[in-house]
Amino acid sequence: MKKRVLSGIRATGRLHLGNYLGAVKGMLELQSRDDLHTLYMVADLHALTTPYNKDELKTKTREVVLDYLAIGLDPEKSIIFIQSQVPEHTELFYLFSTVVSLARMQHLPTYKDKIKQYPNASTVALLNYPVLMASDILIYNASLVPVGIDQEPHLEVAREIARKMNDAYGTNFPQPLRFATSGEYIPSLAGEGKMSKSIEGSYINLTDDLKTIQKRLAGAPTDSGKGETVPTTGGVANLLKFVELFEGKDRYKQYALSYMHEGIRYGDLKKELADAIYKELKPIQEIRAELEHKTTYVDEVIKNGAEKARKIASETVKEVKEKMGLCKIK
Ligand code: ADP
Ligand code: TRP
Repeated sequence: MKKRVLSGIRATGRLHLGNYLGAVKGMLELQSRDDLHTLYMVADLHALTTPYNKDELKTKTREVVLDYLAIGLDPEKSIIFIQSQVPEHTELFYLFSTVVSLARMQHLPTYKDKIKQYPNASTVALLNYPVLMASDILIYNASLVPVGIDQEPHLEVAREIARKMNDAYGTNFPQPLRFATSGEYIPSLAGEGKMSKSIEGSYINLTDDLKTIQKRLAGAPTDSGKGETVPTTGGVANLLKFVELFEGKDRYKQYALSYMHEGIRYGDLKKELADAIYKELKPIQEIRAELEHKTTYVDEVIKNGAEKARKIASETVKEVKEKMGLCKIK
């Protein structure tokens, strides 16, 4: 049987370059491999773990589907679906929660970060985030997960749950591994930390036009443009990382040399970089604009995706319930 791949992105807003390079590019790469069966979802249930607007959730969920399709995820090759439309995920999640200790969840760095960010929203759902994510992955017996490096602690939990379930109940869950892309950690444009939609000034969205990209890059901090060694952290290092990602290693090397000799003119660098980023995003934006009118097609993709995913997911839940000693339906 082909190995399975699963990934997802929370339905919390427009995708940015971090999501694109850290997660979706990996999804795209794996989709084209013949030895793999790929499943990609929109994690709308996970979007409920931090404050959200119920009137916008449906739109945001659909937007991620449109982004997926525009980037090139192909319903002929991958199962594309919405998490909440496969209720088996929450069923398996509950069964999994019986082998997870409270302390383990409370000490997770991702949980601690989130409660710092939202001090009034430390719900049980947020605490359970990694358990639901483990269910998303293991319900398809997926062994490869294309996500950014920040998701590694969650994958570790998924592996632990798989081991515990296998030991306690004789299931045969795989140990899911992260599939890393070269953009597994995209830095913030603001100079520190990672690019994230919750940090204003840190990101470029996939839907940004050239002007907006130029404006966002203009805000990125720089220095005098000259020095003995090329900075490895901070604003300049981050800008050069973007040069490498969008203009290639050679262009990066040229700038690094300039930095140590005649100096870099950041106005020119940023203009050239904005063009390079826009060149990659433009075709995606054009396909996305077309998809916005293809309502019936997108509805079909979502409906078929849920049906196909449920077929696989329900088999797993049935097996786990039996192995855990629950009564069968007669
Ligand atoms: P955000 O931090 O903007 O809320 P999410 O947490 O929704 O982004 O992340 C969705 C996916 O995109 C995950 O797989 C995550 O690892 C990846 N990702 C997000 N930001 C980055 C980044 N700066 N670099 C690499 N990958 C990222
Ligand atoms: N936690 C991921 C994020 O922050 C989203 C997600 C939910 C996910 N379930 C998943 C990713 C399963 C990979 C596999 O975006």
